[in-house]
Amino acid sequence: MERTFLAIKPDGVQRGLVGEIIRRFETKGFTLVGLKFLKPSQELAEQHYAVHRQRPFFAGLVEFITSGPVVAMVWEGDGVIAAARKMIGATNPLTAEPGTIRGDLGINIGRNIIHGSDAPETAKSEIGLWFKEEELVNWQPHLTPWLH
Ligand code: TYD
Repeated sequence: MERTFLAIKPDGVQRGLVGEIIRRFETKGFTLVGLKFLKPSQELAEQHYAVHRQRPFFAGLVEFITSGPVVAMVWEGDGVIAAARKMIGATNPLTAEPGTIRGDLGINIGRNIIHGSDAPETAKSEIGLWFKEEELVNWQPHLTPWLH
């Protein structure tokens, strides 16, 4: 089963959007298998955004992502990597389609609320960077007996 790494960035946490964002992935039908709340270290942020090391916005991006707590998550489901990217929307919230998280909730490219892995290889490496294997829960809601 496919897994992706999603992180609600410090602006999303500060603006009280955690519940709204998690609700979208829950109601879509994906399964939460990992969740933690942390203020990322400089090292973690630099590793996470290593592909952008040479870009002019790199220092500001790392400063922003380490400026406050983030909600780091792993979600599971068929096609979750591409579907989550679609639900997140374009990088620039001003051009992101309405109905997407960035299109509905943001206006600033540097403060675009949420990160989502862009491909299977990045999903694998980002999950490994942010989570230990034992922090991920193997469960299948549709195979779990009703609890109520
Ligand atoms: P990128 O991986 O291109 O976008 P996405 O988050 O949609 O996968 O860029 C990573 C983050 O870098 C992006 O979410 C916001 C920031 N960024 C800027 O601040 N300015 C820019 O011009 C770009 C391209 C990205």
